[in-house]
Amino acid sequence: MTGYSALSEPVSSTGFLNIFKCMDKLIIIDSCMREESRTRVILDAAKEVLSARYDIETIDVNATGLPPVTPEMLKERTSGNVPENTVALARKIASADRIVIAAPFWDMSFPAVLKAFFENMSLYNVTFTDDGTTCTGLCKCRKVLYITTRGMDIPTGDFRDQGSSYLKALSSLWGLGEVITVAAWNLDYMPVEKVVGKVRETADLARSIAEEF
Ligand SMILES: Cc1cc2nc3c(=O)[nH]c(=O)nc-3n(C[C@H](O)[C@H](O)[C@H](O)COP(=O)(O)O)c2cc1C
Repeated sequence: MTGYSALSEPVSSTGFLNIFKCMDKLIIIDSCMREESRTRVILDAAKEVLSARYDIETIDVNATGLPPVTPEMLKERTSGNVPENTVALARKIASADRIVIAAPFWDMSFPAVLKAFFENMSLYNVTFTDDGTTCTGLCKCRKVLYITTRGMDIPTGDFRDQGSSYLKALSSLWGLGEVITVAAWNLDYMPVEKVVGKVRETADLARSIAEEF
């Protein structure tokens, strides 16, 4: 193996030398609930673009199996006992440069399993702390992309849209920065033949936002 040097290998954008490139970290919080999820179609479009610039890790919310915080769990937490894997997940979120959240619109916000996930991740001195007067965020993230689809004719920002308003509030608690919502709505009440086009159009919007994200 005389004269062998890693640097003598051709440099390509997809070559192994990319391992030396330090990419920013992006966490996808995937709370999609159906195999045929339209929300996930839009997520996949954004992910395709984002994967060129970010080191992406996906958290499958359903697979975490985290329950809502019970009185017993709260007692443990107050005594400083939080399961190691919960703390590790919260640290991952706190150290991510960007976060993408994908969830269908359920009961005017998002599935309860995602709220339970947020409850578990909301750990003092990990994702947030306080300054003696109020709570302040500890997360590194500066932008959140929230992807959703709604069955009813509820545009983003409507008072009935409690998904994007909740995530803006959570961002202010954890210090996540700007929350950008990409949504398709009225999917369950438009003619079936229009749904595919609407999802495709929203996926294109997600791709173009991902270029600048
Ligand atoms: C349990 C459940 C609750 C839902 N609640 C609402 C709702 O409150 N408002 C609404 O506009 N659509 C509601 N929908 C419709 C979904 O938001 C819509 O079908 C969405 O596109 C599903 O996303 P998916 O294709 O990614 O699964 C609900 C659907 C389900 C299954």
